[in-house]
Amino acid sequence: MNHSLDKILTIKLASLPTPLDEAKALAEKIGLSKLFIKRDDLTGLAGGGNKARKLEYDFAEIINGDYDVVLTAGGIQSNHARMTAAAARKLGLDVKLVLGGPDFEIPKGNLLLDVLFNAEIRYLIDDDANSSLESEMKKWADELSNEGRKPFVIPIGGSTALGALGYVKAMEEISTQLENDNVQIIIGVGSCGTFAGTILGSKIFIPDARVIGISVSRTSDAIKRRTKELINESASLINYKIDNEISIECYDNYHEEYGIITETGKQAIDLAANLEGILLDPIYTGKVMAGLIDLTSKKVIDKNIPVVFIHTGGMPIIFSFENELSDKINCVKIYK
Ligand SMILES: Cc1ncc(COP(=O)(O)O)c(C=O)c1O
Repeated sequence: MNHSLDKILTIKLASLPTPLDEAKALAEKIGLSKLFIKRDDLTGLAGGGNKARKLEYDFAEIINGDYDVVLTAGGIQSNHARMTAAAARKLGLDVKLVLGGPDFEIPKGNLLLDVLFNAEIRYLIDDDANSSLESEMKKWADELSNEGRKPFVIPIGGSTALGALGYVKAMEEISTQLENDNVQIIIGVGSCGTFAGTILGSKIFIPDARVIGISVSRTSDAIKRRTKELINESASLINYKIDNEISIECYDNYHEEYGIITETGKQAIDLAANLEGILLDPIYTGKVMAGLIDLTSKKVIDKNIPVVFIHTGGMPIIFSFENELSDKINCVKIYK
């Protein structure tokens, strides 16, 4: 064994392993010989998603360090914030969220779930810049420390080197589900932790895999820089020596702007729903599927090599886009 991943403490939050399902109709439509969907939307924890795997590492540190309140931050529809709030409640901890984005009247989607978890929220109107959210969170953590509390701050997206190990472990899981290691793995990239873990984990457990990231917010250059840092930090946590320079493949032309729905993303959501009965979301996974469709049509993705689409979750977001997603409603109202 050339790494010490199994020595790192975790706390069980996710329902694992998640299935790796073949999506034949979608593969045919896109023009792929084989498409598998790794169902990390089914990790459990208040609706599922990729963050459950990361939080298993962060919360082990929180519980062992005797912290009594957890803080994190994100956009109005942050899946990470929702799942952090759920994990905190499951483990009997207090939880505070700094969120930002457009003003709202009625909480919807993930924000509604944050409310159900009784998370105390500070909301930055029209400002979801990472720097603003992080500084508000630091201010709040300082206030709590001054009151004698012991706060633990999880950075935006949970993208720490420790959290990224959740996806190193996920690659070990996928390697046991695959018949052949020669695959193309496609995954969404926001704060880079999931991507970093996927690249490092595939290097260790699925060395023949090609990992392709689709940005939902940042430029490819920014992603490459941050992902490289995280890969190196995560590798050193598990005493893994990276021998060759790791190359990072990432595309940033499928998101337009963070948090909005795109036309191609919407088409991808429709396809997955209609052909596979699978729900993608407008901010993350719909855009990743749009990227997969386009990159396959442009032959950047090799149609003859099986593709593994990591479904990172995000389903609650659908319920905050009811206007944009309900235009093709086919319903006759019958009055009696
Ligand atoms: C559904 C979903 N997919 C993908 C991502 C991207 O993960 P990361 O922030 O680790 O890059 C996120 C992050 O919020 C997410 O919620």
